[in-house]
Amino acid sequence: MSDFTLRALDGDEVRDAARLFLAGLHLGAPKDEEWDRTGARAYQPGRTLGVFGAGDDRLIGTARSMDAELTVPGGRRLPFASVTGVAVRQDRTRRGVLTELMRAQFEDFAARQVPVAGLYVTEGSIYGRFGYGVSTLGHQYKVDTRRARLRPDVPRGGEIELLDLEEAVERLPGLYASLPAHGPGHLTRSPWWWAGLEGMFRRSDKPFVTLVHHGATGPDGFACYYADRIFDADSVLHLEALHAADSTALAGLWRHLLGVDLIDGISTSYRPADEAVPLMFEDPRTAKATGSADELWLRLVDVPAALAARAYGRGSLVLEVSDVVLPANSGRYLIDDGEVTRTERPAQLRLGVSELAMLYLGTWTARALAAAGRVEAVDAAAPALADDLFGTRTAPWCGTFF
Ligand SMILES: CC(C)(COP(=O)(O)OP(=O)(O)OC[C@H]1O[C@@H](n2cnc3c(N)ncnc32)[C@H](O)[C@@H]1OP(=O)(O)O)[C@@H](O)C(=O)NCCC(=O)NCCS
Repeated sequence: MSDFTLRALDGDEVRDAARLFLAGLHLGAPKDEEWDRTGARAYQPGRTLGVFGAGDDRLIGTARSMDAELTVPGGRRLPFASVTGVAVRQDRTRRGVLTELMRAQFEDFAARQVPVAGLYVTEGSIYGRFGYGVSTLGHQYKVDTRRARLRPDVPRGGEIELLDLEEAVERLPGLYASLPAHGPGHLTRSPWWWAGLEGMFRRSDKPFVTLVHHGATGPDGFACYYADRIFDADSVLHLEALHAADSTALAGLWRHLLGVDLIDGISTSYRPADEAVPLMFEDPRTAKATGSADELWLRLVDVPAALAARAYGRGSLVLEVSDVVLPANSGRYLIDDGEVTRTERPAQLRLGVSELAMLYLGTWTARALAAAGRVEAVDAAAPALADDLFGTRTAPWCGTFF
């Protein structure tokens, strides 16, 4: 990349990176007060990269990352890099700046022994070439609160406490950290992540409301929403987040939401595919599916380490992985009785590293990937064998947008 220089940014340069990123999304620059209060705190020190053009001291590209931990099938948590803040100045696109930023990030993650990275994408056609693949899905639904009747066997739930903004900022990080992971795809949330959310809360013109559920042993769930109250039309409660330790907390939060006054419907953000909510209503059509979408795109930066970290179902299979961006990952891997080793045995299933990321948390089946021509079954039985190994009981879900 002789026409550019790339380096880590610090001080005021990080704010330039924020400006460039927001401009890339067609948004305005952060105001002074906003930047001083939360903006700067959302950037993990040393983790914002910048690209400068030759003979030009202006920033033309940026990407950043922050630390987290990803829950993988079997329950282990792996060091994870949350990639975000990616943008290239619009008069310098399509000349390899993003490619260089991606390369530098992978080098950085490998040096810090971070085996997995992930991002949420603006467009689905950008990141597959760098080895990222869709690895969790979310499902949205809309509940007509006027028709909603909970079944009599749905748990009653505990007390609900309303938090103001300052209390929410103070208490949600600890509460989220105390809740069990839904399953594969769950991410821990760093102070940088929470600073980003706080900034969003503070600058939003929406009246955000935070509810905490108190169960038998204390706080065990929370929900955040805002309502659009429209005179003479349906008023909708937008459920932006809900995390619950168990089915009682889930039901308690929903029971409360369904009873909020002056609301005709609840529209959810992307929820786990196996969440019980639609089953709680007397009429199962009360919760109407309105959409589903990719959430987390995963990149296995260190394939041997990532494969070794998760649990598997029964069986044995030889995978041949190809990774043109990080060729050290390429090769054959034997998964046998839960153990993963490099092998010289003949391949049964050939796949790219993005497709491996799509299988890794259990969201997609190898049979579906084979049907789409995205994996090559050298042995006709291999997709079914892979599904026995990689399938998970809990639907992978992330629920932490960054
Ligand atoms: C998306 C973006 C970062 C790409 O940066 P860039 O420097 O132009 O990317 P590169 O030149 O390194 O392109 C690498 C490859 O990706 C392709 N590509 C880049 N952006 C693409 C897009 N939006 N859609 C489809 N392909 C894209 C390029 O054509 C190129 O393909 P090739 O290797 O076959 O030639 C830049 O266009 C941008 O800032 N967009 C607005 C903000 C944004 O969407 N950020 C992403 C947040 S997740």
